[in-house]
Amino acid sequence: MDTFPHTPLPRHGLPRDEVLKQLLAMKQGDQDWRGGRVFSLVYSAGDEVHELLQEALSLYSAENGLNVLAFPSIGIMQHDIVCNTATLLGADDPGSGGAVEGYLTSGGTESLLQAVKTARDVARHDRGIERPQVVAAESAHAAFTKAADYFDVELIRVPVGPDFRVDADALADACTDDTIMVVGSAPTYPHGVIDPITDIAALARERGILCHVDACMGGFLLPFLTELGRLDEPFDFRVEGVTSISADVHKYGYASKGVSVILYRTHELARKQLFMTTDWLGGFYASTAMAGTRPAGPIAAAWAALMHIGQDGYLELTRTAHDAALSLRAGIESIDGLTVRGDPPGTVMAFGARDPELLDIFAVGEKLSEDGWYLDRQNRPDSLHATVHAGSAATVPYLIDDLRRAVAHVGSARATSRDTTYGQSH
Ligand SMILES: Cc1ncc(COP(=O)(O)O)c(C=O)c1O
Repeated sequence: MDTFPHTPLPRHGLPRDEVLKQLLAMKQGDQDWRGGRVFSLVYSAGDEVHELLQEALSLYSAENGLNVLAFPSIGIMQHDIVCNTATLLGADDPGSGGAVEGYLTSGGTESLLQAVKTARDVARHDRGIERPQVVAAESAHAAFTKAADYFDVELIRVPVGPDFRVDADALADACTDDTIMVVGSAPTYPHGVIDPITDIAALARERGILCHVDACMGGFLLPFLTELGRLDEPFDFRVEGVTSISADVHKYGYASKGVSVILYRTHELARKQLFMTTDWLGGFYASTAMAGTRPAGPIAAAWAALMHIGQDGYLELTRTAHDAALSLRAGIESIDGLTVRGDPPGTVMAFGARDPELLDIFAVGEKLSEDGWYLDRQNRPDSLHATVHAGSAATVPYLIDDLRRAVAHVGSARATSRDTTYGQSH
C-alpha cells in the first residue's frame, strides 16, 4: 500500500453537505483557472458556457455511452460531434473524397493511440509488415511514444529544424520499407508551430503510406483562424495524402474534459478501428474506441458547447484568444533577454532566455508562480510554455507586466528546480 495518507472509506457515509465541504476544502490547493492565470490544461469560454457544460454533465451523469441502443440520444450527439468536426476539417470539400468517417474518444491521447493502432493493423493484416514503424518529429506529442509502447510499433523520432518544425526531407530520410505512417502536428504542443503538412502528406502519398495530422490542439482553432483570414496554411483533409486527423473538442472546442475526435479519410480505414468479438458469454461485443463503459456527461457537454457557441461564437473566441496571444508574444519580445521559440501562428507558444548563461527562464518561472501564474516548463531549450485561450485573454497584460518584473527581479539567479514534469508519475 502507498504510504501516503488517504481518507479511509467511512463506516457510515458522510452527510452530503459534509462531503461537499471536504471536496471544496481539497480544491483550495488547486489552480484557480477562473482567475485567468492558468496558461495550461484548461480552456475557458467564460462563465455562461461553463454553467451550460455543468448542466449538460449532470443531465447525463449516470447514462453509459457504451450502449447507444439503450441511450440513443448519446449516439445522436456523438454523430453530430463527429460530423461537425469532420466538416470543420475539410470533409465536405471535394478534395477529401467525400468519405471521411470517425469516432469519439476520451481525449487527444486516446485518439493518437487509435491512429497508431489502426496503422499497425493495416500494416500487419494488409501489408504483412510484422514490426511496423511510425516516423514522427521529436515535437510530436508524447502520446505517440505511448502508442508505440502499447502496440509494439517502433517510433522513429526525427529532430526538428531551428524553427521547431520538422522538415519533410528529414522524415523521408528516416522512412524504411517498414514505415507505415508519418506524422505532422497542427500545431505542435511544445512550440505551437505547424509542421509542413502538405509536404509530409506528399511524402506519404509517394511512399503509399498513411499520414496522420495531430490537430488535437488546432482542430477547433485553425479552421476559425483560417476563416478570420489570419492563417493560410492547409493542414486538413483538403490536403491530398492526409489519411487521418485527431481533434480535441475538450481543448479549443471549449467543451468539458473527455472528448476528442479521430477521423479517417475513408470508410475502409475507419472500420479498422472497430473492435468486435463473439467469443464471450456476454454476447456480441463491439466498441469503437478503447473504453467499454464511457461517461456520457462529457459527450453531452461537448454537444452543448458546439450547439451553444456555434460558428460565430467560435470565430469570436478564436479572435479573442489569438489577439491575446499576439499581444503576449509582442510583450515577451519587448522584454530584454527574452525570445519566443520559433514563429507560432496560433495561440500556443514557448519562450525563454536569449542567452541561458545570462538568464535562467526557470527562475523567472518560479517567480511567476509565486505571483500566482501557472505556465508549464519544458527543456531543449529551457522554456516556459503558454496556451492562451479566450478565458485567459483579459489577464495577458498583467502577465506581461509580471513577466517584465520577474526578469528584472531574477537577474542572474538560478532556479531551485529544473523539473519539467508534465503529467503524473505516481
Ligand atoms: C498536439 C497534441 N496532441 C495530443 C495531445 C494529448 O491530448 P490529451 O491530453 O487530451 O490526451 C495534446 C495535449 O495537449 C496536444 O497538444
